[in-house]
Amino acid sequence: VINIVVAGIRGRMGRAVLQLAGDGAPATREFAIIGGIGRSAGSVAGPGGEVPVTTPDGAGEILRAAQALIDFSGTSGTEALLAAQPDSLHGTAVIIGSTGMPHAVLQRIDALAAHAAVLTAANFSIGVNLLLALVERTAATLPAEQYAVEVVEAHHGRKLDAPSGTALALAEAAARGRDVILEDVRRDGRSGEPGIRPAGEIGIHAVRGGGVIGEHDVLFLGERERIVLRHVAQDRALFAEGALHAARWLAGRPAGRYSMKDVLGLGS
Ligand SMILES: NC(=O)c1ccc[n+]([C@@H]2O[C@H](COP(=O)([O-])OP(=O)(O)OC[C@H]3O[C@@H](n4cnc5c(N)ncnc54)[C@H](OP(=O)(O)O)[C@@H]3O)[C@@H](O)[C@H]2O)c1
Repeated sequence: VINIVVAGIRGRMGRAVLQLAGDGAPATREFAIIGGIGRSAGSVAGPGGEVPVTTPDGAGEILRAAQALIDFSGTSGTEALLAAQPDSLHGTAVIIGSTGMPHAVLQRIDALAAHAAVLTAANFSIGVNLLLALVERTAATLPAEQYAVEVVEAHHGRKLDAPSGTALALAEAAARGRDVILEDVRRDGRSGEPGIRPAGEIGIHAVRGGGVIGEHDVLFLGERERIVLRHVAQDRALFAEGALHAARWLAGRPAGRYSMKDVLGLGS
């Protein structure tokens, strides 16, 4: 059994992890959620009973008892946890699913990776990770002067960051395929009079509302044809399953940075 702490356990994704980890007969369960982290202390009801919840400041003891941390507490939660517990995560497998991370938090993650196996993923689904490879290959094959790349993502209206981490990863994959730096060609949305679209631009657009779990289209727009690579997440359990699979794979590995490519064997 792998002992896991879930940061953001009261959130949409945290609850999905708690639920999925508790599936099946107790004797066959591979994961035990031994604690959660939230903005206030207390407990949450899990399939296997009450799970204690602590704040980032009070999480030291529970983290030292865990083999893996799965973090879905968003940028503010991840930042608070890494600031409050710089040492308690040493030796723990750390799986970070929060997106939209500012530079300072990324630096903390890099520092932690000297002492712990750390995996960050904007998206834990096998489909999106396969899509990243397909987008890179398509962008490398189609001439930039003839095919415009636009990434369009949709999510529920309660999502805090935009564009999604997955949309950014897809845009980065297209830029990599074209051998350019995304920041040099990135265009977020369009309004007013943007003028004639420069060849080589990579557009990113965020749609928000309703109960959309997560949809990503990567469009390659030519004069006479259009290729649309699409991923649709149908259930949050998809991401929870990927995060638990990552925990299973990462627990016990040496310190360093890892990605879903490593977990899924998709190559570099
Ligand atoms: N990688 C992937 O595959 C994937 C998939 C889906 C979502 N995500 C990302 O995962 C993150 C969470 O998404 P969500 O939809 O589950 O969000 P959510 O429902 O808003 O849940 C976030 C939880 O984090 C906790 N939190 C926030 N700030 C905190 C702080 N300062 N200290 C402690 N806990 C804090 C909150 O806990 P309390 O309720 O206890 O206050 C909240 O329940 C987002 O960044 C999202 O983009 C990633």
